[in-house]
Amino acid sequence: MATQRELIHSGMSRRLRDVDPEAAAMVRTYRDEVRGERLNLIASNCLPSLAVRDCEAQGLGNIYSEGYGNSRYYHVELVLRTMEALAIQRGKEVLGMPYLNVQLHDGCGANEAVYMALKMGTEDVLFSSKLAHGGHLSHGAEFNVSGKTWAVRSYGVELGTGEYDYDQIRERARHVRDEFTGKRMVIMTGASAYPFRIDFEAFGSIARELDAVVVADISHYLGIILGGAYPSPAAHVDAITSTTHKAGGPKGAIVGSREELGKVINSAVFPGLQGGPNIGAMLAKAVLFHEATQPWFKEWAEGTVRNARALAEVLAAEGIKVWGREPFTESHLFLVETRESLGLKGRDAQEALARAGITINMNTLPGDETQPKGTNSGLRFGTPWLTRLGMGVEEMLVIGKNFIAPMLRDPHNQDLAARIAGEAKELRSQFPAYEQGAEPDF
Ligand SMILES: Cc1ncc(COP(=O)(O)O)c(C=O)c1O
Repeated sequence: MATQRELIHSGMSRRLRDVDPEAAAMVRTYRDEVRGERLNLIASNCLPSLAVRDCEAQGLGNIYSEGYGNSRYYHVELVLRTMEALAIQRGKEVLGMPYLNVQLHDGCGANEAVYMALKMGTEDVLFSSKLAHGGHLSHGAEFNVSGKTWAVRSYGVELGTGEYDYDQIRERARHVRDEFTGKRMVIMTGASAYPFRIDFEAFGSIARELDAVVVADISHYLGIILGGAYPSPAAHVDAITSTTHKAGGPKGAIVGSREELGKVINSAVFPGLQGGPNIGAMLAKAVLFHEATQPWFKEWAEGTVRNARALAEVLAAEGIKVWGREPFTESHLFLVETRESLGLKGRDAQEALARAGITINMNTLPGDETQPKGTNSGLRFGTPWLTRLGMGVEEMLVIGKNFIAPMLRDPHNQDLAARIAGEAKELRSQFPAYEQGAEPDF
């Protein structure tokens, strides 16, 4: 008869493959087939480094440390507090923000924390990009808490170019200010599907003119900002919010701000919205900020933007309707119209490419007001993941010309899909995610 200790130990010390073959098989399928054979072009997905994964694999997320600094609701060992302090110190340096909270579990929570810190009420107004113009649901969408709690007024892109017109946005903001005289106005910038450079300085200037607070949600751009391939909003805004996973860090988020807002943002995060932070994720954020200072990271960020442009251009040359003015992107992402130009709804285009080994997401294009959902007019493409594998312009040309364009032109051809999936797998096999033998087994 096993003792209590032996019984518990035997449960605690077995690896996934031994204890739960069903779950282990899923992990293996993900690693070998999904990650290992397919081409991931989802703009918000990014492959983490093994260093980031190491931090998350230590079970640190299970340790409670509610509170900040030396003021905690538990005894928290010095080394654990230091992990958070390291993330804050490094993050402030690389982001150029005087204050930083690294406890947030996700990007929606980061935005909610800022709104809460600013004590917005129903009489206050959030001025943000329309969802269909590249905004995010946490920027005031009617079905999100942000849209249910505050008045929301929105701006959008010019339908001809796909870009913001800052004079128009200023004019619109002035009207909103008049409508909400004496009330708090928060201007939200940053987006999920805006391919061009955002002029954060212009948003800052509009906010100063109208006595508004301006927040930049750089979730999508954090990686390329840290790598120097996209402008930073730090000098122009009151606060920044960002996810960390899209930049190759852990699933989670951060909020940076002016010093004066720091205290209220901290209180909004904990105890306002969250309980215990994930210490492993905070340490992984510290590692991400360190990685951001390394040459490979800069190479990745610049390569990501270069690849996005190359892929957009080759698709356009193949007759695919890439959205917006040439050269279609100044970031890691671009949009493609499929419904009118190819008679193919975004969802069907997404599924056609999925059959051909390409993981992608449908996207509503600016100006598309069609209902019901699922009839989206196009696709969003992003290159962070493939660039992390070491792929460059040469591979983008192959992927665009030989894989994506033919599949979009002939989406129901099963033989073509099978052939392209095979070729995509072959290409993918030449770019292993990590160096041979470096990845720990499970
Ligand atoms: C601009 C922006 N903000 C916030 C988020 C939300 O992040 P999360 O999914 O971690 O809540 C996203 C995610 O796609 C995003 O693109």
